[in-house]
Amino acid sequence: MDSADSAPRRLSVDRSSLAHRLRYALGHPERIAPHLRRGARDLWLRARHRDHVAYYRAVMASDTARSPEAAVGSRDHRRWLALGKLQFDYLRDHGLAPGHRMLDIGCGNLRAGWRFIDYLDPGGYYGIDISPDILIGAKETLSRNGLQAKLPHLTLTHDLTFDFLPTGHFDVVHAHSVFSHSPLPVIGECLANVGRILAPGGFFDFTFDRTEGREHQVLREDFYYRAETLTALAAEHGLAARLMDDWERLPHGQSKIRVTAPSPEGER
Ligand SMILES: C[S@@+](CC[C@H](N)C(=O)[O-])C[C@H]1O[C@@H](n2cnc3c(N)ncnc32)[C@H](O)[C@@H]1O
Repeated sequence: MDSADSAPRRLSVDRSSLAHRLRYALGHPERIAPHLRRGARDLWLRARHRDHVAYYRAVMASDTARSPEAAVGSRDHRRWLALGKLQFDYLRDHGLAPGHRMLDIGCGNLRAGWRFIDYLDPGGYYGIDISPDILIGAKETLSRNGLQAKLPHLTLTHDLTFDFLPTGHFDVVHAHSVFSHSPLPVIGECLANVGRILAPGGFFDFTFDRTEGREHQVLREDFYYRAETLTALAAEHGLAARLMDDWERLPHGQSKIRVTAPSPEGER
């Protein structure tokens, strides 16, 4: 599930520690049974799917069967709309232009994607996701909003090598609440390859669950990283990365990093 929905950031908490889990259980007794059910389901899915992406695809299949909006982390339709608008408004105010070509990694059921599609010129939006179930939800969102004429691309993927996409193509790459569900090798694969598909002057914005304490994960569904870990990983691949300070002030539980492609002068 998404930790994003307006939870205040608590940057030193280790959610995997026994002390935190006991404190949390005492404070929220009504959440114990659902958490145990989710833990049991995840154990079962992990036993069946060793590879993280295959495991998470199965998590998404199970969550989407109940509710596509809940599967992308929104507890109701009002929050689904609000979280999509938050993403869209921020990106439009931070460089997205109608003529841009945009890649939305982990596009889900187009919570924000339908707004990007509406705003961009026809064919400007490319959404990819590991979950066929949520992509079916994406098509439903697209038709519900009457956006067929915008001809967005929606593609299933298993990795983040982007090997099927052209070099230097995208002005904007975006991944919202995706790395919050990703182990470091998945993020590393993305950062190793995103530079190739970014257009000159392009940028890649992603959110993540930030900790200032020990990096940890919960149920292999939610991952907490230090910002320095991710900026250093970007630097290993020749990319500049910075924390977006004004995003921190928005009602959202995750942090956002912007990665920029090297300028043509920088390459010389
Ligand atoms: C919390 S949802 C967010 C969806 C969308 N970005 C939004 O904000 O509404 C995370 C999405 O990322 C997808 N996802 C998770 N890991 C992925 C990966 N390694 N590559 C592509 N998509 C991934 C999931 O299937 C899911 O649709």
